[in-house]
Amino acid sequence: MQDVDEALILRCSKCSTAAEPDSNQAQCAVCGALLELVAPPPKVRGDALRRIFADRRGTHGGRDTSGVWRYRELLAVRADDVITFPEGNTPLIHGGRAAHWAGCPTLRVKHEGLNPTGSFKDRGMTVGITQAKRVGAWAVACASTGNTAASMAAYAARAGIPALVFIPAGKVAMGKLSQALAYGARTLVVRGDFDACLELARRAARELGIYLLNSVNPYRLEGQKTIVLEMLEQCGWDAPDWIALPAGNLGNTAAFGMALAAARDCGLISRVPRLLAVQAEGAAPFAHAFDVGFEALQPIRPNTVATAINIGDPASYDRAVRSIRETDGIVTTVSDTELLEAKAVIDAAGIGCEPASAAAVAGVRRMIREGVISDDADVVSVLTGHVLKDPEATVGYHGQSVPGRALSNPPVEIDATIDDLRRTLDRA
Ligand code: F0G
Repeated sequence: MQDVDEALILRCSKCSTAAEPDSNQAQCAVCGALLELVAPPPKVRGDALRRIFADRRGTHGGRDTSGVWRYRELLAVRADDVITFPEGNTPLIHGGRAAHWAGCPTLRVKHEGLNPTGSFKDRGMTVGITQAKRVGAWAVACASTGNTAASMAAYAARAGIPALVFIPAGKVAMGKLSQALAYGARTLVVRGDFDACLELARRAARELGIYLLNSVNPYRLEGQKTIVLEMLEQCGWDAPDWIALPAGNLGNTAAFGMALAAARDCGLISRVPRLLAVQAEGAAPFAHAFDVGFEALQPIRPNTVATAINIGDPASYDRAVRSIRETDGIVTTVSDTELLEAKAVIDAAGIGCEPASAAAVAGVRRMIREGVISDDADVVSVLTGHVLKDPEATVGYHGQSVPGRALSNPPVEIDATIDDLRRTLDRA
């Protein structure tokens, strides 16, 4: 079986200027746009390719057990000496009561929170860290709202590479911060927001020669493409009508469009699903740009309880615009109240996710209510992060009784007596 090799090309996504694939370069030296990886199309297509992917599922150990590397024919990467947990292999399940809440009875969710460090970031990180190791990086760095930091810290530890994370002060959920510390990353709490952290991380990469592992790194996006590839395989290669996802720095929106194009070009799917990218109202520069036909991106000062997507100046904007255009997609917003309610429903369904992930399901509900998506549409919503990532959000929601919070489930304190237990249960 062919593995991608010297034919790998790194080039500008706008002006096509070539760059060295093993450089630590994310932006075009000529026009400043982000770089992308390109590889020759695989020699096998359609059914033959489907069979290769399916056969690898039965193996034990090594890269074929990874839900990322298993799809390597469709990734513009070199697939030797990989650093894998393994990651991926996440379930695609019915949304239970969340499907009914959204008004989409057949809604399915792809739970990326069930990756090794609890978010979809592990899919990009296995590829990013493998590349960092290949080029002999002396240290890796990322700016993060928390999940990238947790993932990079873990994979860097596995690879034996020192890790440096930049996180915005007071804006990172406790589960994620605790992971970065636990996995041994040097954790810098920056007085500024995520956008300031990313600016600083990019400077550190340029001036200190640290290998940058944000999603501006093209290797990260190659790995993230497999969320969609694995989902399509789980759908029996019968593509859903819509794929909904939360959108922040827009790396995932970009990667999803790339994956769908690759799946179509290789004859794996006969029609391309539409993307529904969902932002929080208080952090919605992409949705605002969509509303004016993507005329221009106006960076904003973000403010949402969904800290993972609290981003005002998304780095992968251009590539994400391409994804939305190519899939006839839509970008919408939901309020913090809506996304917290969606989270409560998803959690109560026994599925669980972090607030940003729930935004996508809230977005599906909004689009169905507005008649943009029909209630019999086949929709898959991607849950990007685990319920344990943001315990403050969960306990905050359930801990206080707020009017209108029908799903609030506050803890009840009792005496250590059977009588008090009986009284409490009677009251319930
Ligand atoms: N959902 C979760 C749980 C995230 O952590 C992120 C991004 C997103 C959605 C948005 O994805 O940026 O590709 O549009 N988290 C990044 C981080 C920014 O630093 O962990 P995106």
